[in-house]
Amino acid sequence: MRVFVTGASGWIGSAVVPELLAAGHQVLGLARSDTAAASVAALGAAVLRGGLDDLDSLRAGAEASDGIVHLAYHHDFSQMERAAQLDLHAIDAMGAVLQGTDRPLLIASGFAGFPAGRVATERDLPDPSGYARIASAQAVLALADRGVRSSVVRFAPTVHGAGDHGFVATLVGIARDKGVSAYIGDGANRWPAVHQLDAAALVRLAVDRAPAGSVLHAVAEQGVPTRDIAEAIGQGLDIPVVSVPADRASDHFGWIGRFFGADFPASNDLTRALLGWEPTRHGLLTDLKQGHYFAAG
Ligand SMILES: NC(=O)c1ccc[n+]([C@@H]2O[C@H](COP(=O)([O-])OP(=O)(O)OC[C@H]3O[C@@H](n4cnc5c(N)ncnc54)[C@H](OP(=O)(O)O)[C@@H]3O)[C@@H](O)[C@H]2O)c1
Repeated sequence: MRVFVTGASGWIGSAVVPELLAAGHQVLGLARSDTAAASVAALGAAVLRGGLDDLDSLRAGAEASDGIVHLAYHHDFSQMERAAQLDLHAIDAMGAVLQGTDRPLLIASGFAGFPAGRVATERDLPDPSGYARIASAQAVLALADRGVRSSVVRFAPTVHGAGDHGFVATLVGIARDKGVSAYIGDGANRWPAVHQLDAAALVRLAVDRAPAGSVLHAVAEQGVPTRDIAEAIGQGLDIPVVSVPADRASDHFGWIGRFFGADFPASNDLTRALLGWEPTRHGLLTDLKQGHYFAAG
């Protein structure tokens, strides 16, 4: 299959592309800059220049492919509504090309906006009023009735591994700057986690055989207490570990405070049963002990 991958130059995309290639697929990767184009080409994929705000480039990628993995996202947490709109328009454009073809269209999603404090399952379909991006998942699932083999992969908030520049790397940077590694309240709230390579393996399986309208959880660990994450960061940086009260979380952590204070454990039972996916890589705390999160200054 020739798979059009948006976000091919990103953290998850840079593992998905080799995984697809190793399984015998060809990849056409979207790139919005020379730097991204060079990274995508270095992974062994063909490059399509374009961007999320260039719908013609997305349609061209969709037309030139047998399936789509949509991972690109405008990660600006000061413009969350705009980012969600950009995503929805991109999905509409690519979905329209695939209508009636039964080709796969997989998009990335997450757990923001889910009800806190209980284990989320693949059957949960929260309302986008809690978080605008959820509308993208709804739009993709609706394409299942229009002849698209659509699926939504909800990635754990920490897709971890060497080279991660996401949430956990951000927490490490904050701890380094503040000289303390903090958790919020009693730190009992939990974050699910998955290793980058296990996440990539799930995406590949989903491209190959997820039925239309599937919701999948790229979650290997159901919920790692955030206090344990803060302690591992404190140990890695050799700094004290402290609790920050919930009403000071934004002052201490900035934009990531609202996420780090959330409790959103998630199950992967239905995903494993549907696709036979078995995560095999090490967990988040073991990854934090390997040292790579603390190597950069
Ligand atoms: N990593 C996680 O822990 C996690 C958790 C939950 C959900 N997700 C979701 O999974 C997907 C992949 O995440 P990631 O961690 O791989 O993100 P990432 O490392 O930040 O990569 C984002 C990708 O999107 C591309 N991109 C951003 N804006 C674009 C635009 N306007 N036009 C074209 N391409 C654009 C980037 O291209 P450049 O290389 O040019 O910047 C990059 O390839 C995202 O949808 C993300 O929200 C990730």
